[in-house]
Amino acid sequence: MDIIYASNYEDMSRKAATTIAQQVIKKPTSVLGFATGSTPLRTYEILIEFHRQGIVDFSYINTFNLDEYVGLSSDHPQSYSFFMFKNFFRQIQLDPSRVHIPLGTALDLSRECTDYEEAIQNLSGIDFQLLGLGSNGHIGFNEPGVHFNSVTHVVSLSQETIKANSRFFNSLEEVPKKAITMGIKSIMNTRKILLLVSGEKKAEIIRRALSGSISEEVPASVLQLHPNTTVIIDQSIL
Ligand code: GLP
Repeated sequence: MDIIYASNYEDMSRKAATTIAQQVIKKPTSVLGFATGSTPLRTYEILIEFHRQGIVDFSYINTFNLDEYVGLSSDHPQSYSFFMFKNFFRQIQLDPSRVHIPLGTALDLSRECTDYEEAIQNLSGIDFQLLGLGSNGHIGFNEPGVHFNSVTHVVSLSQETIKANSRFFNSLEEVPKKAITMGIKSIMNTRKILLLVSGEKKAEIIRRALSGSISEEVPASVLQLHPNTTVIIDQSIL
């Protein structure tokens, strides 16, 4: 595992965007896994600048997002689909048929999960996966206690996650209680992982994830077992 310390949020974001751009330049048909949350926002902005400057051509990528809230349609402002199109995909003019995000309003959620895994396999797996870190150590929406052999599945969100994510909603009650997430196994099967760590309350959990024991109680600790993972830490939070 490579650990890179960035001097601040901007530096972390620029390093991350450069790594993603290099991946797409090297393999224009890359299958990229993306994450939501505040952490990667600036990375997406920098990638949009790269697109506008003609440095990277995103026309041939395919994308898979890690997760989506159950019950929120793609036009709901707090859905992850809405977030991705608003903050990234629309701005790089990505053909929506290349975008894959779990459908939180699917009538048959378990079928949606199986179909999602199948769609990943049909594109020969994910080349490059971007990850953020939840304050309780979650990756995607894989909460503490998740099985390391899980693939895409429906989860009940922990109280800590509901509280942390309530900052984007009008009230705690409005936060969905469930989500669809790629599982730990789906994430571990990706060929390269880039974990970004920034923001309040992440200092303690990133220490546990990187140097503590590998445990389902700290889902991100599983990344110690991945053969090709880079972590970029905004050291101003440490
Ligand atoms: C959410 C997402 C995660 C994300 C995490 C951290 O719960 N499901 O994929 O990594 O929040 O968010 P932030 O980057 O805002 O701290």
